[in-house]
Amino acid sequence: MSLPAYVAPILDSTSSFKSNIFEGKVLFCTGGASGICRGMTEAVMRHGANAVIIGRRLDRLEQTSKELSAATGRSCISAQADVRQPKSLKEAAQKAIDVFGRIDFVICGAAGNFMAPISGLSENAFKTVIEIDTLGTYNTIKATIPHVRATKGAYISVSATLHYNATPYQVHVSAAKAAVDALSNVLAVEEGPHGVRSNVIAPGFIAGTEGFDRLANKNDQSNGFSAPLGRFGDVKDVANAAVFLFSDAASYVTGQVIPIDGGAEHLRTTFFPYPQSVLDPTTMQKLMKGKL
Ligand SMILES: NC(=O)c1ccc[n+]([C@@H]2O[C@H](COP(=O)([O-])OP(=O)(O)OC[C@H]3O[C@@H](n4cnc5c(N)ncnc54)[C@H](OP(=O)(O)O)[C@@H]3O)[C@@H](O)[C@H]2O)c1
Repeated sequence: MSLPAYVAPILDSTSSFKSNIFEGKVLFCTGGASGICRGMTEAVMRHGANAVIIGRRLDRLEQTSKELSAATGRSCISAQADVRQPKSLKEAAQKAIDVFGRIDFVICGAAGNFMAPISGLSENAFKTVIEIDTLGTYNTIKATIPHVRATKGAYISVSATLHYNATPYQVHVSAAKAAVDALSNVLAVEEGPHGVRSNVIAPGFIAGTEGFDRLANKNDQSNGFSAPLGRFGDVKDVANAAVFLFSDAASYVTGQVIPIDGGAEHLRTTFFPYPQSVLDPTTMQKLMKGKL
């Protein structure tokens, strides 16, 4: 007979933090039109901040801006930009200044992902993920740093846990996110004396997101996955961590990489059956973009 395991509750940040802690603050969030970054933006807005969300698809950006403004009673505007283009990010940062007069918080969250083995991943596909995740994070920091210094604000870069051990079919994202972790740590060291903090949130598997759907087997989402806290992550788990890291409660926290994964990294389980998934990649074919 198996004993029932504890399952962590999914809570709203307003159950732990006051609703006005970010009153008058402004968030600049790349990738904010969807998924985890949208959830983080909504949570930060629920505590009083206005927000600018950045992405390439204008229709989705505008729709999300409207929905977030309506849901939170704060103002969310969109700025269309490709994080691979420094000029478009600088224009987005200027738009934030023109409309709101300041930038306090930055989330570097835009990213791309798909499954492919090294042997089937094109050089161009590898480069594209590095350009969006790593260079995009760098470009976002560069475009916003004078404004964040001015407010003694804080950065959160969104990374992952899949590079803590080697995850098959994820070499491009693993390399890109390892670089993001390093980038954020150097930012923390260089900018700490200016009053700016920089931390990384490393989500585990967050259910209900595009990224999760792309990686998980739709027929059997569990894939043998287990976490000490009993479930896949929820967007709210990551959003709560963002609220904490931007709050004054984290005023002595910088240069940290914080996994939000229910402790799963310590179990060191492989998400895909190994070595079968590598020896016979056709078993993973449905999840793959790159050719085998
Ligand atoms: N989902 C998970 O389980 C999971 C696990 C670990 C880490 N993460 C990380 O969490 C973050 C969010 O993931 P998600 O699953 O929520 O993904 P998502 O919904 O696919 O979000 C990605 C966002 O980035 C934007 N984006 C992509 N390329 C861009 C570019 N070149 N310029 C500007 N914006 C761009 C997209 O908007 P446009 O397409 O309109 O540009 C989209 O809004 C990512 O950093 C991801 O690596 C997710």
